[in-house]
Amino acid sequence: MSENPTKSYKGPGMNGVIGTWYAKNTQKKIEKYTRDAKKVLKALSDGDTVLELAPGPGYLSIELAKLGDFQISGVDISDKFVHMAQNNAGKAGVDVDFRHGDAAQIPFDDESFNLVVCRAAFKNFAQPVIALNEMKRVLKPGGKAVIIDFKGDVPKADINKFVTDDMGFKGLNAMIIKWMFRNVVIKQAYTKEKFMAFVKESNFETCDLKEGLIGIEAWLER
Ligand SMILES: C[S@@+](CC[C@H](N)C(=O)[O-])C[C@H]1O[C@@H](n2cnc3c(N)ncnc32)[C@H](O)[C@@H]1O
Repeated sequence: MSENPTKSYKGPGMNGVIGTWYAKNTQKKIEKYTRDAKKVLKALSDGDTVLELAPGPGYLSIELAKLGDFQISGVDISDKFVHMAQNNAGKAGVDVDFRHGDAAQIPFDDESFNLVVCRAAFKNFAQPVIALNEMKRVLKPGGKAVIIDFKGDVPKADINKFVTDDMGFKGLNAMIIKWMFRNVVIKQAYTKEKFMAFVKESNFETCDLKEGLIGIEAWLER
């Protein structure tokens, strides 16, 4: 069973110290959000509407807002992250509508967005197929959804390489992050095959999926 309707997220919630730790550590690697914002930018035109699903501290949406004239919204289940993202957008001087909501019940009308982006969060959703159907529902005809996340079944050596070479962590921090990746993040994430099985079960008909060392990038079209 892939769906668990009793809880909206898998794993620990991010309302407490985990959320603060996550926001602080990911902000140190802001260039990763800028890189992903630039990937998304290629699919957008000025004036387009964008939804970031599960934006956490909001860094991707904020970086995207700096790159063009878009109407960006963000929906996250964690109140702490919604407030943090609103605060971060204010400090950055950009206008993003961050609000509380569940990926399984996105608080927007049908056909509201040209693009939905979801980064490092799809594996956290308790109801992944329903989340995919919700993404499709809020997309305008011809609109695209992009899901960027870690993948399951990554060998330990590749996790270690990613944490030290790509993320640049050293010493004790590197040890903690490697442990977290092995025991939490990668365990929650889906293999390419599992992800494609969710897509097949969903209302989406096309999916262009690319695999990296420890992640996947999937483009879906309404
Ligand atoms: C690992 S964080 C990623 C945050 C951000 N996308 C990033 O790249 O830094 C996972 C996020 O998913 C959110 N989340 C988990 N389940 C959710 C759900 N059902 N609906 C909306 N957000 C959810 C969490 O609150 C958290 O912000």
